[in-house]
Amino acid sequence: MRLKTLIILLLAAMLVFTGCGHKEKPAQTDPAADPQGETAAQQPADDSAGAETQEPQLPTMETSLDAYPLEAATDDVLVLVNKTHPVTRDYVAPDLVTVEHCDPNVGNADTKKMRKTAADAIEELIAGAKADGYDIVMRTGYRSYDYQDYLFDSYASKYGEEEANTYSARPGQSEHQTGWCCDVGVIGVGLTDFDYRPEAVWVADNCWKYGFILRYPADKTDITGYIYESWHIRYVGKDVAKYIYDNGLVLEEYLGILD
Ligand code: DAL
Ligand code: ZN
Repeated sequence: MRLKTLIILLLAAMLVFTGCGHKEKPAQTDPAADPQGETAAQQPADDSAGAETQEPQLPTMETSLDAYPLEAATDDVLVLVNKTHPVTRDYVAPDLVTVEHCDPNVGNADTKKMRKTAADAIEELIAGAKADGYDIVMRTGYRSYDYQDYLFDSYASKYGEEEANTYSARPGQSEHQTGWCCDVGVIGVGLTDFDYRPEAVWVADNCWKYGFILRYPADKTDITGYIYESWHIRYVGKDVAKYIYDNGLVLEEYLGILD
């Protein structure tokens, strides 16, 4: 037999032996033929096999888009407040508590507050930063509609409304009014001087571990409508914060609300 013919025969024999590398789908078990379900019990259920590759079931915003502008406070931790999803003057965040580690030179008694869950989380974040060698404080948390009005007005009268609105929300459009976010910083360091400091890098890298996201990243200004804010973090809960951090999203993208 010629060598070429021998090789072809050998390859053919290997293909027959290995079943051509093609695996048949396992035959469906006929429940009637297996009344005790023993076959199924011996094999992993399809559901459990697929579970590993499924996306995690994460919460989304409960608040109806029809409810905007929001008048009454909601317990929805993922409630979206931005330029196109505002709250009214009547919207007052509930269960506000004072954060202990605040910058004493910034804001007033109200702005040192956050919603209880977020306040507990920011204390944990500040303690975590401290353990890593960074002294971070909260600058402002909750801001009422009227306080935001005063703030925006003071920027606008100095720099014009358009420029002011690239870093300061108009009243009703600031998520500070929800009590779920805050600005962090270092005592004695101005707001924008926080950018690129080691403390700011630590916040960007670690805030998700405490349930916060960096709300206005540098590469998402077209979506958020605001310039990069190294200091503004938003509480969303640990699972969502991790998902948003891992996937490089902003809240609008996570919620799928981009208009
Ligand atoms: N600086 C953010 C956009 C605010 O004013 O709420
Ligand atoms: Zn802020």
